[in-house]
Amino acid sequence: MSAHAKTRIVGSPVPRKEGVDKLLGRARYVDDIEREGMWHGATVRSAIPRGLIRSIGFDRNIDWSEFAIVTAADIPGHNHIQLIFADQPCLADGKVNHCDEAVILLAHPNKHKVREAAAAVRIEYEPMPPVFTIEESERQDVIVWGADNVLKSFLLEKGDVDSAWVGAAHIVEGEYRTGAQEHLYIENNGVIAEYSADGGVTIWGSLQCPYYVHKSLLAVFDLPEDKVRVIQTETGGAFGGKEDYPSILAAHAALLAMKSGHPVKMVYDRMEDLAATTKRHPSRVRHRTALDGNGKLLAMDIEIATDGGAYSTLSSTVLSRATLHSPGPYVCPNVRVRSRAWATNIAPYGAFRGFGAPQAVFAIERHMDEIAAAIGIDPIELRRRNFLHDGDTTATEQVMREPVILDQLLDRALAESGYNGKRARFAKENKTNPVKRGMGIAAFYHGSGFTGSGERNLNSLAGIDVTADGKVRVLVSSTEFGQGTNTVLTQIAAEAIGIDYEDVMMAPPDTGIVPNSGPTVASRTSMVVGRLIERACLQLVALLRKNVGLGETFSREEFFAASERYRATKGEVVSLCRYEAPPGIFWDDQKYRGEAYPAYAWSIHVAQVAVDTVTYSAEVEDFWAAQEAGRVLNPVLAGGQIEGGVAQGIGYALYEKVLLQDGHMVNNQMTNYIMPTAEDVPPIHVYFVEIPFSHGGYGAKGIGELPHDGPAPAILNAIRDAVGISFTSIPLLPEDLFAKLAVRTGVEEVAAV
Ligand code: MOS
Repeated sequence: MSAHAKTRIVGSPVPRKEGVDKLLGRARYVDDIEREGMWHGATVRSAIPRGLIRSIGFDRNIDWSEFAIVTAADIPGHNHIQLIFADQPCLADGKVNHCDEAVILLAHPNKHKVREAAAAVRIEYEPMPPVFTIEESERQDVIVWGADNVLKSFLLEKGDVDSAWVGAAHIVEGEYRTGAQEHLYIENNGVIAEYSADGGVTIWGSLQCPYYVHKSLLAVFDLPEDKVRVIQTETGGAFGGKEDYPSILAAHAALLAMKSGHPVKMVYDRMEDLAATTKRHPSRVRHRTALDGNGKLLAMDIEIATDGGAYSTLSSTVLSRATLHSPGPYVCPNVRVRSRAWATNIAPYGAFRGFGAPQAVFAIERHMDEIAAAIGIDPIELRRRNFLHDGDTTATEQVMREPVILDQLLDRALAESGYNGKRARFAKENKTNPVKRGMGIAAFYHGSGFTGSGERNLNSLAGIDVTADGKVRVLVSSTEFGQGTNTVLTQIAAEAIGIDYEDVMMAPPDTGIVPNSGPTVASRTSMVVGRLIERACLQLVALLRKNVGLGETFSREEFFAASERYRATKGEVVSLCRYEAPPGIFWDDQKYRGEAYPAYAWSIHVAQVAVDTVTYSAEVEDFWAAQEAGRVLNPVLAGGQIEGGVAQGIGYALYEKVLLQDGHMVNNQMTNYIMPTAEDVPPIHVYFVEIPFSHGGYGAKGIGELPHDGPAPAILNAIRDAVGISFTSIPLLPEDLFAKLAVRTGVEEVAAV
């Protein structure tokens, strides 16, 4: 098995493939690109959360004949954005369902004039009652989506939860909440579109999933597949935020290109990007847990509610992942998870690193500490008694066939962090020090790749070719947005063929050139697409051996010479492979039973936190992350994924709060949407234990999302350890700490006077 073999390039910290271009400023982002005769687009957005559009007024002081104006009536095909369901209009038609929903598009040669003009369009509404929270949506007094406001629901059942309560020694309940979170990629959403009657639509854009945008444009323009072409430009970060939204923006720019007869660029500024594009789903998770006298789990009854916003977008798949991650990495004979995504009149929530898992992991890992306190055992010991091991069965009755080494990861994380010694020392120091310190942990997994039958349905195609000028090209629609796709896929190809890293390059991420290797999401690229590249390379070597006499062992010169002989006698030197599911797996989409994921990555996080009881600020002082994510393909990139995910998780826990007023984000600037800076991020100690996964590219499993799942519960557990008070909601800001801590430390007496 290649995954276990000694490697030269896989596993080594080769430099990032596009790194030099980025460093030297040669990389071209969408806003660096100009097209001949290009105009600029702008969007007129709804100012109210819900209502009917009565009239649209154009200011008489503006010469509108200079502008291209697009409304829903201009859409040649379907007025919907094709994601999972097709309920979201491309442009509002007669009614709006959230603030900042796109109603009218404008284009003009002058970027500043088009913005001024957009501000001068007056839309008159007949307001309708809006719904802003999960609770209001659940009440169903006002129905804003479908028949009941439910965007999606799941029921997962194992064993018999209802009869487990009677014999339980302990029953512990808890409710946990998480807020929205903005991706804050450095580069905002942006695209350029061109349109011609015979050529169709071409898009250049900052995006994750060229074929998602492609599919969506086919519907909006009612065009055949070969008349839409989507090209990813260098992308400055995404984190899931460019998984679904670019389908909307690309359609808008393309409509303006069609109407104006010019290429049209649309690049959002930060305020527009923050107000109008997707964020992480807010959630409320309730746990009711039964345990026996030894602290072993008997039953888990879990209820998940997420706020999906005004349209379904990816809420169903996010909810699915939340459902499947909600029981945590524990063995329990009786589990029931009921989950619902609720519609509200807020800009739709969407994909964000972790995709439902951070919400679910926050709840279960905070709940485990609450259970430990309630039944009087150590939170580490409680976890050890209930950890999944290989051979055990998950809540979906998936048998853990690969090694599960949570105990080993926990031992490592505790040892490296000095957990026990520090806890004891902090307990002593906290008696006199106004800065209270604590240690907290989180144990969790992240399912790699699409859920259930997802990978089989995607049916990804990927491969390589050899160019006439002597390079191997990786042919994938998988995109680079800072996380390392270009580097790890070329490492895999160079390794599998036996040539140099410099011999391999990426084909342009252009739907006119590369096959559909699926979207760049779900921690699937290294594992699933990497495996396809590995297979395609071995297949090409076999082809050259069979047809043009490539030897059993060969040099890189011999490989390229053989490729040229093949080209001269047989034609194009290309090798493509299609996804094959690992053998013997099953998934029942109705019952939610079976192999929820082809593989799981496992992790333990330890946070050291200091709470200042004078200023009420909480700070993460130190952080340890131990994980098993299969083979590490590139230690620098893998370490970077963990550090970045932890930093983003710290922001999720302690800093980042989306403030809504009438459903519109009011802190939509980087001055008042507070994210952690280098100053707020502690040292992050990263440890990998490598167990190659036999169906992943060179043994890799998913790594990108895993590190975002653990920090929030680890940090709030550490705060509980520090101050002895339990917080169950994030973001946890100084005012939230004040609200509970101040009561205990004397403000209470003042109030009583
Ligand atoms: Mo992702 S959050 O699966 O783009």
